[in-house]
Amino acid sequence: MSKLKLTVTDIRSETQIVRAITLKASDGEPLPAFTPGAHLKVSIPGQKAPRCYSLVCLDDDPAAFEAPACYHLGVRLEDPSTGGSRHMHSLSVGDELEVDGPRNDFELHEAQINEHAVVLVAGGIGITPIASMAASLKRAGRAFVLHYYGRSRAQMAFLDVLAAQHGEAVHMHADDEEATQLPLNDLLDSVDQKQHLYVCGPKGLIDAVVEQSHGRQWPHAHVHFELFSTPAPQEGDAGFEVELRQSGQVFHIPPDKTILEVLEEAGCDPLFDCRRGECGVCQVVVLEGRPDHRDYYLSEAERDANDVMQICVSRSHSDRLVLDL
Ligand code: FES
Repeated sequence: MSKLKLTVTDIRSETQIVRAITLKASDGEPLPAFTPGAHLKVSIPGQKAPRCYSLVCLDDDPAAFEAPACYHLGVRLEDPSTGGSRHMHSLSVGDELEVDGPRNDFELHEAQINEHAVVLVAGGIGITPIASMAASLKRAGRAFVLHYYGRSRAQMAFLDVLAAQHGEAVHMHADDEEATQLPLNDLLDSVDQKQHLYVCGPKGLIDAVVEQSHGRQWPHAHVHFELFSTPAPQEGDAGFEVELRQSGQVFHIPPDKTILEVLEEAGCDPLFDCRRGECGVCQVVVLEGRPDHRDYYLSEAERDANDVMQICVSRSHSDRLVLDL
C-alpha cells in the first residue's frame, strides 16, 4: 500500500447524511490504480486507528480505475460517530488527508465469474464498493443485477446516477415504499447457486445473506461480502479477563470494548487490519478458556476447535481467556 497525501477538491451532499468527497494527489502526481471493492485507509487526527472508506467509481471508462485523475469517496455521518465520519464531514475543499492505499479486501473476482449474471446487493452506504463493481462489470460486458436496500429513496446515495447508468439492472428497495420492497429471502430464492453474489452493508444484512446462503448449500466461494460497521456490543455482553501468557499481563475487558481495544489502550502493539472480523490478521492462539467467536473468518470446524480467535471482534463465554501473546 502506498502512503499518499490527498487534497479535497470537491464536496457534495449526496443525501442528508452522506457526503461525496473528491480527492486529488497533493503533489499533482498520478494516483495509483485501484480495482472495484478497494478502499483507502484514512488517518484521522487524534485517533490511533485509521478509518476505511471504499473508493466509489461510477464511471465505466477503464481509465477511471487504471489511471484515476481523482478518487471519490462516499462517507455516511455515523450516529454516534467514533470520530472518523465526523472528521470527514467537517472537511472543506483544500483540506489535506493522509491515507494508505488503495487496498482491496473485497475483490470482484472477474476471472471466476461465469456466464450467469452476478448479483450485487448493497445496504445503505454499502453501495460504495458495489457501485464500483457495477461500473467494472458494465465495462467488461458482464451481466449483473444490483439490489440496493435503503430506508428511503432520499437517503440512498448515488441512486439516480446508478439508475441512469445501469437502467433495469438496478433494483431499488426502500423501506418506506411498499411497492419496491423485496424480502431478502425472496431475493435469495431467485438466485441460482451458480451465480456469484457480492454483498456489502450493515451486519444484519451480511449475517442474513451468509446464513441463508449456507442454509441453501450454496458454495461458500460464490458468496462474497464486506461488512460496513465496526463491532458493536450485543445485549447481555459481560466483562471478562484476559491473560497474556507470554508477558504475564492480565486485563479486564469491559462489555463495551474489544480485546484489541483494551490491548491498544494498554500500550501493546497487537497486529490487526480490518477490525471487523474478516481478514484474520488479528488472530491469536487460545491456550485456555472458551471464545465467543463473532468473526467471519473462521470455518465452523475452526470455531468448534476453540484454539484460535480474532481479538478485534470475538469475546469470551468463559470468565477468563489465556492467550498466547
Ligand atoms: S483485524 Fe481483521 S479479523 Fe481482526
